[in-house]
Amino acid sequence: MAPLNPSLQAVCALLLLGVCLATPDVQPTGVNCAVWPPAGRDGRDGLPGTAGVNGRDSMPGRDGRDGFPGEAGAPGVAGEKGEKGLPGIIGVSGVCEECERRKIYQCTWDASNDGTDIGVIHQCAVKKRTNTTGLHVRWSGNLRNIKSGGNDCSRWYITFNEAECNNPARIDAQIYDSTDGHNMHIPSSIEGICYMLPAGPVLVQLHTGDCRPGHGHGDTYTGWESVSRMIVEEIEM
Ligand SMILES: *[C@@H]1O[C@H](CO)[C@@H](O)[C@H](O)[C@H]1NC(C)=O
Repeated sequence: MAPLNPSLQAVCALLLLGVCLATPDVQPTGVNCAVWPPAGRDGRDGLPGTAGVNGRDSMPGRDGRDGFPGEAGAPGVAGEKGEKGLPGIIGVSGVCEECERRKIYQCTWDASNDGTDIGVIHQCAVKKRTNTTGLHVRWSGNLRNIKSGGNDCSRWYITFNEAECNNPARIDAQIYDSTDGHNMHIPSSIEGICYMLPAGPVLVQLHTGDCRPGHGHGDTYTGWESVSRMIVEEIEM
């Protein structure tokens, strides 16, 4: 506080002697009298304080532990049958290594010297792998037919499981002679391809027999003092 000037000090001295002492409860007016103030009144309420700041949110809590697994539920009802699927892509035909290889059978007979006129001379058992192939058969060896009067012809033919081929035609050969007693063993081959024989075992046989109608049966001889062979091969058509 700034010190009182001298004139005020004089006034206060007078007040202290008269007015101030006489009426201590009267509030001094117009002057600042701090030397001996009586007890003041209670102060007024202060102004409202500034609003506080909101508190911050606390941090979220941590996840709890996993619970125990529940029990398996009852089986559901079977679903309805689905619709038929789309057709698949056309596949590539498989390669059968065994089928790819050429399969050739060969049977041989050394010096059969067979004089059978009507009957089976040779046979060779083979196995056909596929229905839709052909069997190529080749018989080679010596054949002979001796004419005697009206008996002038011999026939040789191949059968497959006891039947002659009919796709496309039988496989056969005939020897006709116009000279009686002519005895000549002729190297010959009887050959053909028969199609569409069923897959499976096939007994390929060489028969001797009667010639086509109109000829009597001569004196037949097969495989004179030499090797006869039958070669059978399954081939694609
Ligand atoms: C051959 O054809 C028969 C009759 O159709 C069949 O049963 C068989 O499976 C066929 N075999 C082969 C190897 O294709």
